[in-house]
Amino acid sequence: MKAIHVTQLTGPDDVKLAEVDPPVPGDREVLIEVAYAGVTFPELLQTRGMYQVKHDLPFVLGSEAAGTVVDAGPGSRFSVGDGVAAITGKGTFAQYLVAPDAQTVPVPGGVELRHAAGMPMNVLTADFALRLRAKAQPGQSVLIHGAAGGLGSAAVQLGLAMGLDVVGVVSTGEKAEMVRSLGARHVVLAEGFKDAVKEILPDGVDFVFDPVGGDRFTDSIRSLATYGQLLVLGFTPGQIPEVRVNRLLLKNASVVGVAWGAATRDDDAYIARQWEAVSEHVAAGRLNPHIHAMYPFAEAAAAIGELDRRSVLGKVLLEVAGE
Ligand SMILES: NC(=O)c1ccc[n+]([C@@H]2O[C@H](COP(=O)([O-])OP(=O)(O)OC[C@H]3O[C@@H](n4cnc5c(N)ncnc54)[C@H](OP(=O)(O)O)[C@@H]3O)[C@@H](O)[C@H]2O)c1
Repeated sequence: MKAIHVTQLTGPDDVKLAEVDPPVPGDREVLIEVAYAGVTFPELLQTRGMYQVKHDLPFVLGSEAAGTVVDAGPGSRFSVGDGVAAITGKGTFAQYLVAPDAQTVPVPGGVELRHAAGMPMNVLTADFALRLRAKAQPGQSVLIHGAAGGLGSAAVQLGLAMGLDVVGVVSTGEKAEMVRSLGARHVVLAEGFKDAVKEILPDGVDFVFDPVGGDRFTDSIRSLATYGQLLVLGFTPGQIPEVRVNRLLLKNASVVGVAWGAATRDDDAYIARQWEAVSEHVAAGRLNPHIHAMYPFAEAAAAIGELDRRSVLGKVLLEVAGE
């Protein structure tokens, strides 16, 4: 089968379309004929050896995909013909993918596979952050950095579905338009966001959802309400911020780590429970990734490059079927 291989850690331009042996499903695993794969920020980092999860070279790139089950190992809860999405952390940029049942979810009827392919990582991370870590309640407010990005736009949609007051933070007017089109009432520019947020919510926000970090961190803490929580999800510019803890003490504020993958690792039922919890929103179209671009499979390097250039509005996908 064809797959996108990483043979050296020199960045997205050097990923290669390669011929590899198709995998075989074992106990409680499925073989998926991949239709579409979602492109996520970890792929960009993995091509440079900069992601916390490392794989031995060469490896097949790709964290998430959607397609059709073509074989099911002993004890699998899935059957041949099922439409599924999977989040395996590697191997999804391939014509065939073996995924454990624990990392595979059914795609509800009426949801297209191309939309499902862009959901697992971002929808489940947003759910983990807002529902399970923050325990956010209807009427509370959340400031979302990188709101037009893959994870950020999923958090905007989920926040709105949960009845939260969402304030998106973006770097350009075009990204602001996109976030408004998702239904967010408030969108502010990253430059000077603290003052803009103060005008909208003078008492501060209950939560900051932060996949960006960098030099915004201190202003994010300043934007919190009393008892507010800053949810730490990632560091897109690469710089890891430091916090002067007196700022937390003064407001009874908290900084909360949010590592979705680590939470799922020791519990085979975790992802299935989360998927069940969000399925009402998925089926109703409230969680429905905005597709920025669909790249042919052979153009994976260009697709990943979009994340590197910070140009993505929503989600970039690879079309694997028909390759
Ligand atoms: N904690 C977890 O469990 C978890 C799970 C999934 C992903 N993540 C992390 O979340 C982050 C975002 O992932 P994503 O898939 O949403 O990526 P994405 O689609 O590329 O979006 C990232 C956003 O970050 C903003 N940004 C600010 N500075 C940037 C820079 N120097 N380079 C690139 N983007 C920059 C951009 O928004 P503006 O241009 O509007 O500022 C961009 O829209 C990554 O760090 C990823 O590793 C964490």
